[in-house]
Amino acid sequence: CGIVGYLGEKNSKEILLSGLKELEYRGYDSAGIAVLQDGDFSSYKAIGKLVNLEEKTKDFVTDKFSIGIGHTRWATHGKPTELNAHPHLGESSYVVHNGIIENYAELKKELQESGVTFLSQTDTEVIVHQFEKNLKNTKNAFEAFKNTIKELQGAYAILLVYKGERESIFFAKNGSPMLVGVNKENEKYFASSDTPLIGHCTDVNYFEDGDYGYVTPNELVIFNSDDELQKPHFTKLSTNKLSAQKDGYRFFMEKEIYEQADVITDTLLGRLSVDSVIFDELDKSLFEGINEIKLCACGTSYHSALSASYMFERYSKIKTSVEVASEFRYREPIMTNDTLFIVISQSGETADTLETLKMAKKAGLKTLVICNVDNSSMVRLADSSILTRAGVEKGVASTKAFATQVTIFWMLSLYVAKLKNSLTSDEIASQIHLLREVPASVKVSDAMHEKIKRLSKRYLHGHGFFFIGRDVFYPLALEGALKLKEISYLHAEGYPSGEMKHGPIALADPELFTIALLPQHLLYEKSKSNVEELSARDSTICAISPIEFDKADDYIRTKEHAHYMLEFFEMMVAVQLLSLEISIRLGNDVDMPRNLAKSVTVE
Ligand code: G6P
Repeated sequence: CGIVGYLGEKNSKEILLSGLKELEYRGYDSAGIAVLQDGDFSSYKAIGKLVNLEEKTKDFVTDKFSIGIGHTRWATHGKPTELNAHPHLGESSYVVHNGIIENYAELKKELQESGVTFLSQTDTEVIVHQFEKNLKNTKNAFEAFKNTIKELQGAYAILLVYKGERESIFFAKNGSPMLVGVNKENEKYFASSDTPLIGHCTDVNYFEDGDYGYVTPNELVIFNSDDELQKPHFTKLSTNKLSAQKDGYRFFMEKEIYEQADVITDTLLGRLSVDSVIFDELDKSLFEGINEIKLCACGTSYHSALSASYMFERYSKIKTSVEVASEFRYREPIMTNDTLFIVISQSGETADTLETLKMAKKAGLKTLVICNVDNSSMVRLADSSILTRAGVEKGVASTKAFATQVTIFWMLSLYVAKLKNSLTSDEIASQIHLLREVPASVKVSDAMHEKIKRLSKRYLHGHGFFFIGRDVFYPLALEGALKLKEISYLHAEGYPSGEMKHGPIALADPELFTIALLPQHLLYEKSKSNVEELSARDSTICAISPIEFDKADDYIRTKEHAHYMLEFFEMMVAVQLLSLEISIRLGNDVDMPRNLAKSVTVE
């Protein structure tokens, strides 16, 4: 979910709606705002994407002195209905919230027993009712808000407005991101990330966990979790809005696939010499005393982490393991401080990944984040960071962010190889030479795109897809299957080619589609045998390979490359395009697929 808030003299409705537009990637199940109108608060909500709310509120005007809060939702508790949309209201207050209130059921039960009626199924609604209950006991609204916050368990970024104090917004942050921005005109802007504030604010304060407080036209009052008054820690906000346009492509995802050659060029920029990889942002001591690397991430970033584990072991000769963040955080993992803990995240905000980073820091491990968003929560928290430089990624299904992550990992594995002398200088120099070829290998060729467009019509039905590959092509198979699931809603699985015979091959028939990754330079014969086993059992085979394969029903030809990693990058483009074309044929919203959000800030 994403939240915004505004206090100032401009049209708060317009400001909130444009702020929400920037945050829509965080969820688009419903949206809502509460604003001052004729001296009183009113709220408006609509299900589905933000345009519905824009349409609903297009004719109304807000007061000159203007206050408001807004929310765009990715449903956690309760279906995406209008009643479950934020802001939630009590008798005299409105709240927007990002996160999960874990003890909401207990609080709700007590409130219901005392006669409060709930309108929604959300965890958020308890906040307004608890606030109003506390208000009866203290009469001081901020005191009541503070008491409410102290009773909440879980993760939250909260904005609350109250009819009794029409010149204040109360806020609290714990575990979910939020910042406040100010400017010379004395306006105050709140948001879940800095993008909605760019162009409006000069200075911003990122809240720490446990912070709470209020703003009025002349005040910004912040307390920390120990109830000590804090001075805001302002940092300058960039004035450059990196906004993305479709530039003639049908969808952002398509544009982002085509952009990969350029963004990888940026990823490499200034980071390669003839025989070494340069990461100025890293302290060389980061790898001192390190015997193991642990990688943690979610979704697509998890797949790039898996690919990294092959490269770290093969090139850097360092023991590496990878884990899904939501698993790692609850399984009481053993953490020793000879381990470098690396988190990977496009957004730098994913709640599960962020939590693992906090755990590693707490356990005293050295930490590194590979991230696309500067100033994100993870970049601010980790000891070191490497930015992927993919630019703004709008498509919910990640493409160019993945491509840049894998590029960074290839580079990082060589960087460590040099430190540990696990490859010779010549070997490193020859791989650096190959790294320079990555942008060319991801350039989309018209021939490939046309071919995939045509053959995609064969793959709209059937009972399932298996993307299969070996070694580093196994994470790519997982990523190919994830792309297809996300935007086509067809069932797909990524599988290690050699593992199909241990169960999944039972599914083989003409309605089972196998997308086989068959690189020339890595285990070609082994992988081919596995595909033959499937073909012998009548699975429909689409081979992606530079070598024509007579058992394939369809064939996507990739170029001859000097190294399997270059084949990896070209095959990555092929599976991305295949998902895109299937999804377009099915008439889906490629950029905003159902049920998903680009950045998931709840666990
Ligand atoms: C969401 C997105 C995925 C993404 C994952 C991790 O589920 O829909 O595309 O891979 O979060 O996001 P991150 O920003 O941490 O890479």
